[in-house]
Amino acid sequence: MSDLAIPEGPEERAAALADFATYLNPQKVRVMRTAGLDIVEGERSGPWVWDVDGRRFLDCFTSAGSFNVGRRHPAVVAAAKEALDHLDHGNFLLCSAQKARLAERLAEIAPGNLSCTTFGTGGGEAIDFALKLARGSTGRPTIVSTVNGYHGHTGFALSAGGRDAFREPFEPLMPDFRFVPFGDGDALRAVVDNTTAAVILEPIQGEGGIVVPPDGYLTAAREACDAVGALLIFDEIQTGMGRTGKWFASQHEGVVPDIMTIAKSLGGSLAAISATIYTEEVREFLIPHPFIHLSTFGGSDLACAIALATLEVIEAEGLVENAAAMGVRLHAGLAELAAAHPDMIAETRGRGLMAGLKYREDSHGPRMSYQLSQRGVLAIYSGNEPSVMRVMPSLVVGPDEIDLLLTALDDSVRAVRSGDGPADAGTTRARRRPERATT
Ligand SMILES: Cc1ncc(COP(=O)(O)O)c(C=O)c1O
Repeated sequence: MSDLAIPEGPEERAAALADFATYLNPQKVRVMRTAGLDIVEGERSGPWVWDVDGRRFLDCFTSAGSFNVGRRHPAVVAAAKEALDHLDHGNFLLCSAQKARLAERLAEIAPGNLSCTTFGTGGGEAIDFALKLARGSTGRPTIVSTVNGYHGHTGFALSAGGRDAFREPFEPLMPDFRFVPFGDGDALRAVVDNTTAAVILEPIQGEGGIVVPPDGYLTAAREACDAVGALLIFDEIQTGMGRTGKWFASQHEGVVPDIMTIAKSLGGSLAAISATIYTEEVREFLIPHPFIHLSTFGGSDLACAIALATLEVIEAEGLVENAAAMGVRLHAGLAELAAAHPDMIAETRGRGLMAGLKYREDSHGPRMSYQLSQRGVLAIYSGNEPSVMRVMPSLVVGPDEIDLLLTALDDSVRAVRSGDGPADAGTTRARRRPERATT
């Protein structure tokens, strides 16, 4: 077998887990096994993924919203193959037709007057640049972020992260970051002043536990910024690209930020690409500093070609509209589930195909992941809020997949309630890779 082929079978799965534990992260293997998530991805297609041992899962994690067009969408794969015949990363210092075309498309899709783009490779990089741009263009130091917000693990992004456990081992981080409770317009107004460079928010907190702010919150943020000349940054890395039933979640309230970040699904499950999109006014800062932020692989020619195909698929297949329609079905089913199991489910929430299920106890998160995995559903509790199971399938799902998911959730809640748990989670204990003949 070539090292590039997808391995198959339980032996290969065990070997991959053992090697992962040895050479990457043993504790991750243990945690994933306990939650029934020691899955080694094999084939992937549309809303589905197969473990290398042949088990099929409806992927409701989707790398936190990275597979909006599904896994390996045929049109995106075809565009990638065609691009490979002609392109490579490109020379980052030169001007690129692919970057220009993608930035033009993003200007068409982005709300309001967001028409200028700088590309990166991942979400954290896009956030880092957004915050640099805010400080650079306002000449002010302070960044206001939200408690339990999540913006990535790079330098500025981690500094804006609202979870102490991720931050504390690395203190001191960047200075002058302040945190306010998410969803509280008064708290925001009280802290934003003429030292504020920017307020940064997720329009719906993702890792924080799929928290939809009250109506009017984004407007309050806009007004607080406008009152003192601060910039408003919306992190749409998880909420964007159609996930909530609009291209961008901020469009539900019709509020336009000065800077918006996207990543994840922009790459159509095949390329690492992110974008920081901003107004011409904000771009003024870059006129005297055209080389102040560089990224060798940010918006590579290959990635731009793949992203262009991804945008085309979202549009041609009506995936934004499908997210809205399937979201209605999903949320109706989740509400029924909560009503049927009030002792276990405290609340369901979200928008479109970004849904959260809040349990009464944190410990239900891993136990539900385990039960769902036994029923062919891959779902993981939120990074910053273990009591919330997030449900974020790809936007290509139809009614059958939503119904399968709802049935699996109902069965899993019953199993957890009856005390079933990952008791046999250790039976798939990883073994060392068997010796193989080299070819
Ligand atoms: C809202 C949000 N911002 C930023 C990031 C960081 O993105 P990346 O992991 O690509 O750096 C994430 C990742 O989950 C995210 O959900």
